[in-house]
Amino acid sequence: MLLQPLHEPAADRAGVQLLLLRDDLNHPELPGNKWRKLTYNLREAQRLGHSTLLTFGGAYSNHLAAVAAAGRLTGLQTVGVVRGEELRNQPLNSTLARARQDGMRLHFLDRATYRRKHQPEVLAALLQELGPAYVLPEGGSNALALPGCAELVPELLTLTDFDTLCVACGTGGTLAGLLVGLGGQREALGIAALKGADFLRTDINALTQQAAGRVYSNWTLRTDYHGGGYARLTPELRRFVQAFQQRHGVLLDPIYTSKMLMGILDLLAQGHFRRGSTVVAIHTGGLQAWAGFGGV
Ligand SMILES: Cc1ncc(COP(=O)(O)O)c(C=O)c1O
Repeated sequence: MLLQPLHEPAADRAGVQLLLLRDDLNHPELPGNKWRKLTYNLREAQRLGHSTLLTFGGAYSNHLAAVAAAGRLTGLQTVGVVRGEELRNQPLNSTLARARQDGMRLHFLDRATYRRKHQPEVLAALLQELGPAYVLPEGGSNALALPGCAELVPELLTLTDFDTLCVACGTGGTLAGLLVGLGGQREALGIAALKGADFLRTDINALTQQAAGRVYSNWTLRTDYHGGGYARLTPELRRFVQAFQQRHGVLLDPIYTSKMLMGILDLLAQGHFRRGSTVVAIHTGGLQAWAGFGGV
């Protein structure tokens, strides 16, 4: 586990120690939150005797890519249900091409049905068509995704104490797992990568309730750093990533960690964090997505 100090003028002015937890380096093929979210689910799938994993994602989904790689590594078959029937007749983008190379069977679903994918009758019809499988929700965020993310906290505490743990949010499963790991101590800050993400608060509480039997109050979710919407890479955000890489030698991903760091630096400038405190931002990986944006 590597903890990298980020010397940023905004942090120095605010009197805050800013550290980057390089969780993107934690697994060569399932980096960042992917390995953490999948590990207990993979065990459960195997315990239940499943030979196939089925999951859902958009065309650039880091989660689909991770499940395909996990299938190759564990010998489980994988099926990816992809949002957008129209993609069926188009050349595969790099994420989907790589997933297929890893052995994932791709099934394209029209957007209206995709929206209803977790309704029992829609899911039953999919399993009827595609065969029996251990089903992972979109983003891999179910109750079993939480313990793997929770384990990050004691690992981090062997390196440093801290006041605030920051993470980018898509479905909120990773943040929910961190809350379980924090056990109500210290603070967590989630920064949503998608627009209109207020619903995540309810989802995160539901996940911690399911996994740990309680909700937590030591966290906040910022929904104002989505930069125009999910997977919108503005020229400003791209320039931010390039400059960040020059300053720190670290590449952020275009969808999640870039927005998180931009948000943290803005919050530092606003005096959001207590002077003298230590803030740890988690690099959750996601670099495979760059190929879909024509590189950095
Ligand atoms: C690189 C990266 N960081 C953060 C997240 C957010 O994770 P979650 O969906 O658990 O909120 C994702 C989502 O899949 C991701 O790919």
